[in-house]
Amino acid sequence: MMHLILADSELEPVPQAIQGHPAVVKHAKSRKKRPSNMILDATYHHQAIRSKYGSEAERRGRPDIVHFFLMNAQESILNKQGLLRVYVHTRNNDVIFIKPETRLPKSYPRFVGLMENLFHNGAVPNSEQPLLWIEKMSLLSLVKSIGAPSILLSEKGKRTSPGNIDLPEDITIIIGGFPSGDFLSNVEFVDRKISISEDTLMAWVAAYEIIAEYERRYNR
Ligand SMILES: C[S@@+](CC[C@H](N)C(=O)[O-])C[C@H]1O[C@@H](n2cnc3c(N)ncnc32)[C@H](O)[C@@H]1O
Repeated sequence: MMHLILADSELEPVPQAIQGHPAVVKHAKSRKKRPSNMILDATYHHQAIRSKYGSEAERRGRPDIVHFFLMNAQESILNKQGLLRVYVHTRNNDVIFIKPETRLPKSYPRFVGLMENLFHNGAVPNSEQPLLWIEKMSLLSLVKSIGAPSILLSEKGKRTSPGNIDLPEDITIIIGGFPSGDFLSNVEFVDRKISISEDTLMAWVAAYEIIAEYERRYNR
């Protein structure tokens, strides 16, 4: 089984500190939502983010990265074969668990609506038989609870082409869910750090490279 974690993802409800910012209030009105029930999205809230989070402004509010990542992972051949488990860990140590059979909205606004529902209620479609649910958990606790050896994909890791990665059948792969900067979580506990390209890749590209490599090795 491959366990794939999108770590330190920039997915969070609009923080209280900027819920009253005019850009957020305007967006909330247009969506007939409370600011506290919306997901932070740099496309609409960049001014508000910049007003409060200076040096972090360029990375926060990126649900689009999570959407692209989940589209690739959930729709992969590997997932359809039942060999993939996907987790989204966020900057606030929320972990989203996703049942493999979950089909997520292709439309971005509908995906954001689903995430808002999830953060508001803790599970969707309901807490009795959830397809997605949230638990408070650090990255370290999540990796420990999975119990498989771990590889961090990082541009600072040991340069290895995907075909040459030592990839045991039971493995946890960690990919950063942020557009720039470094991991916020302590990642020194991982077993290995690997770079798969000279270039900085988008998280969903790194994800698909490793998924495809695992499919080639363990295709049934
Ligand atoms: C846009 S990058 C984030 C950039 C950031 N500077 C970093 O150090 O991770 C998103 C994620 O894709 C993965 N990634 C990007 N380039 C990579 C590379 N050359 N090799 C392995 N993983 C990479 C990493 O997991 C990274 O956290």
